[in-house]
Amino acid sequence: MSEKIFYITTPIYYVNSTPHIGHAYTQIAADARARFERMRGREVYFLTGTDENAEKVARVARELGREPQEFCDELSAAFRTVWDKLNISYDDYIRTTEERHRKVAAEIVAQLWNNGQLEVGSYAGWYSVSDETFFRTEETVERDGARYIANPTEDQSKLPLEWIEESTHYFKLSNYGEFLLDYYRDHPDVLGPESRRNETLSYIRSGLRDTSISRGLDWGIALPPVVPQGQGHVIYVWFEALMNYLSAPGYLSDDPKRRELFERCWPPDLQLMSKDIFTRFHATLWPAMLSAINVPLPRALFAHGFWTVNGRKMSKRDPETIIEPVAFAGHIAKLAGCDFETGVDALRYYSLREVTFGSDGDFSRVGCLNRYNSDLANGLGNLVNRALSMLHQYFEGVIPDVVGAQLGLLQSAEDAGPDIAEDFSTLNYSGALNRIWEVVALGNRVIEEQKPWARIKAGETNEVGMLLRELLGVCQWCSVTLAPIMPHAMNRLRSLIALPDAVTWNNAIAWNLLPAGHTCLPPQPLFPRIPKITEEIAMEIETNPDAAAPVAASQTAAPATEAPAAEPTAEKPNYIEYADFAKVQLRTARVLSAERVPKADKLLRLQVDLGTEQRQILAGLAQYWEPEALVGKTVVVVANLAPRQMRGFESQGMLLAASETADGPPGGLVTIDTDLPPGSVIR
Ligand code: MSP
Repeated sequence: MSEKIFYITTPIYYVNSTPHIGHAYTQIAADARARFERMRGREVYFLTGTDENAEKVARVARELGREPQEFCDELSAAFRTVWDKLNISYDDYIRTTEERHRKVAAEIVAQLWNNGQLEVGSYAGWYSVSDETFFRTEETVERDGARYIANPTEDQSKLPLEWIEESTHYFKLSNYGEFLLDYYRDHPDVLGPESRRNETLSYIRSGLRDTSISRGLDWGIALPPVVPQGQGHVIYVWFEALMNYLSAPGYLSDDPKRRELFERCWPPDLQLMSKDIFTRFHATLWPAMLSAINVPLPRALFAHGFWTVNGRKMSKRDPETIIEPVAFAGHIAKLAGCDFETGVDALRYYSLREVTFGSDGDFSRVGCLNRYNSDLANGLGNLVNRALSMLHQYFEGVIPDVVGAQLGLLQSAEDAGPDIAEDFSTLNYSGALNRIWEVVALGNRVIEEQKPWARIKAGETNEVGMLLRELLGVCQWCSVTLAPIMPHAMNRLRSLIALPDAVTWNNAIAWNLLPAGHTCLPPQPLFPRIPKITEEIAMEIETNPDAAAPVAASQTAAPATEAPAAEPTAEKPNYIEYADFAKVQLRTARVLSAERVPKADKLLRLQVDLGTEQRQILAGLAQYWEPEALVGKTVVVVANLAPRQMRGFESQGMLLAASETADGPPGGLVTIDTDLPPGSVIR
């Protein structure tokens, strides 16, 4: 039998609203671990999905005048799209309205009935629809004639509870208290972090009661016929939702391929969620249910903390606290002038760096942008930029064949490696990132100390070459160790240093991957710096949907905003490389016609002859030039600017002109007065 597949799960999310950064957090954390395991050579089965049979989902749908199933289809697809945009590398996506789940859930309930684990009874209790949970009277208080949860946790409902009386079916959870306590005593590493383990143990010690597992509702999975008095009842959504972890990989499946997958991946190696659904559901009900059907228990269950936003609980009633991850990543990208996926990586980085995984945290938009600038643009981005710039300035982009003393950079990276792997394995993401940034900071510090720009002038080529080999080694190491957290940016880094595609954890310190003679690409900013950060700028993103629109990869650029390559900012202005300038195609064009654009007092619409083609260009010249005066002039056009729509017209390029100044007449159009044919290239 081949090696066990590493099986990792996230909760399945209710589809009563769209995902926010709280949901994204679990996904990002699970994704980082899944990628790390793959890089270490493990086969991984990473499962996520949506929880669709909840009463509140049907309620929201009906309130919106929608059919619940159609509503679920739409929202489930919306969740999936968000995970795809956030680069979440899930292997399977389970929806609890799918037949593969419905069938297995009903079969498990039948099995439980046949094994004597269920009994028929009646139920009366206080029900919270939004928590999908019953509360005992002693857990509630009366106020103004209504009942409420007595001491709601920050995430529990503050709305009135409903009194529900009905016949129901009980799972004999009370039989499992001793078993669970023994199990957790013998397997001390299953529950984490420590605080949640303790909470769970005292919850179980306080006495488990049998739990109602059916509801008289019309939306959900019907009880199987074998269960008496099951007509008109569906399986309680929590009981059935937990079974997704079994149904998705193929438990009781008719398909031999899926059964094989189940055999190879069970039990789950890591089940992640936040603390609100840990103790009662995942650490108590779920293992008891597994034990009742004789299926081995998960190897690890881990609860992370809760995010607040600027100190406030996330709530739809407080819209500023709802941060949509895709909109926010688009916002970061827009502000930084980088591509959307780099914005995603910045969000992934911030989420895992900001707080210790397992503790609560406060998400601040400004905090995230500041971290982007300090850690990504000024820290890692600067290091990469400096290393590649110097390699190109001093060695034409080719790693030199040099000998000399080591500066200790590679050694410190290599030494940190085992601890970083251990951090990933124990979900200590912020710890791993701290260790990686110590090496990044050391790299930048060594550049300051060594002053290679001065040494190269002094003819110390060998020493500078040695430094560069070490710096590029650190870039290689970062491109591997950070790949689980920032997969897109690290792919870009690897293509800049021209590293082979297959990224395995061992490639981090395989120093012979960048040998003497290896050519790297010219620098391109990995994380262009955000010029200005204020609370307003940070907020504007979400309130202005235009600003939040994802930036296309082709619109990246802004090379001048990352710190200059080799030398400290104070010593050298923001030069661009010739290669950057060479990307701009300047060509002459003859103006064939010009006219004003209706309702746009600045714009002229020009038709120009570019030698090989005729183009339409919109130019902001109307305040300074009469249209007729332009006809016949030879102007200079940026010919390879991406076309864009302006006032309903497509503009295919841009004319060069002096921009408006405080003290001079604006609109100085660049024209050519010698007799150059249209289309001539300008350098
Ligand atoms: N459908 C159930 C889970 C069933 S699993 C068998 C559910 N869904 S949920 O949509 O409410 O999502 C809960 C999960 O979203 C949490 O466990 C956590 O992973 C994530 N989070 C939701 N809000 C969060 C924060 N404010 N902070 C951190 N994580 C949060 O419960």
